[in-house]
Amino acid sequence: MALVGAVAAPHSHLQLFTRPAESEDYRRKVQQGRDAMFVLRRAVEKADADTILILHDDHFVNFDFRCYPPFALFVGKEAKGSGVMAPDRIEEITGAVYRRYEGKSAYQSAPDGIPQHMADWEGQKPYVYRVDTDLSIGLLKGLLQRGFDMPFTTVGTMDGELVLTTNFLNPAADKSIVLMLTNGYVPPLPWPRRCYALGRAMREIIDESERRVLVLATGGMSHYPGTPLYGEVDEAFDRHILALLAAGEGSKLAALTPEELMHHGDGELVNWIIAAGIVGDRKSTVVEYVRLWHIGLGYTYWEV
Ligand SMILES: [Fe+2]
Repeated sequence: MALVGAVAAPHSHLQLFTRPAESEDYRRKVQQGRDAMFVLRRAVEKADADTILILHDDHFVNFDFRCYPPFALFVGKEAKGSGVMAPDRIEEITGAVYRRYEGKSAYQSAPDGIPQHMADWEGQKPYVYRVDTDLSIGLLKGLLQRGFDMPFTTVGTMDGELVLTTNFLNPAADKSIVLMLTNGYVPPLPWPRRCYALGRAMREIIDESERRVLVLATGGMSHYPGTPLYGEVDEAFDRHILALLAAGEGSKLAALTPEELMHHGDGELVNWIIAAGIVGDRKSTVVEYVRLWHIGLGYTYWEV
């Protein structure tokens, strides 16, 4: 079949947590973000995909400094993860039901001192996604054939951020996934022009496959995790990016440099730029932009 749609959505925890809880303004903005997620969920449902191709920047869960690749395809049968808070509360907010997964009822069993939603404790993770191995392998081989020396990994941990996004967008977890991890976090980042070209090549392979594929790019927008600039948000740049996508000019993102992405706090746009490459210059629908104290949250989707 082919590409049936694409979505770009945040993976920020702040859509679940309300900090500071005492602020009404903050609570309102968090709800605004959740409402936007539900609009994206309807776009996902309408696209009626078999497989969700996820583009997600790793948060030191699968990659570390022994090897930090610009991109890596997960090759395995299942990707596992855990939420960022108790499953009951996640179900209340998103409708995602963890207990549905046979034999896995615990969510909080990471070793002491390790954040339970990030650690690699594969065996006990309660949230399990079936991987579309045919498409994963097809992408891996097809990208190698097209000149992309694509790394691959058999570790498919879905960190709490990614699980959060899929909880909102596919709460029944009834679609298979393909997981491509990226470096949107540790400079030097991959070049946007390479991300865009990668997306173009992936599109060719998607078009040759028998699947109905929906692309999900997570992350962003502007924020400065782990730096003295934490708390700054480059709202003007975020809005500029969203305007380009809405105008069907996603290819212009390929002209950015990695330094520009970092400067604007938008390293995670590498995922969005790959998605833009897959979709091509097609207009997106911008659902929402919410500026929280430390991050700009952008929500958009493409109908194909
Ligand atoms: Fe992130």
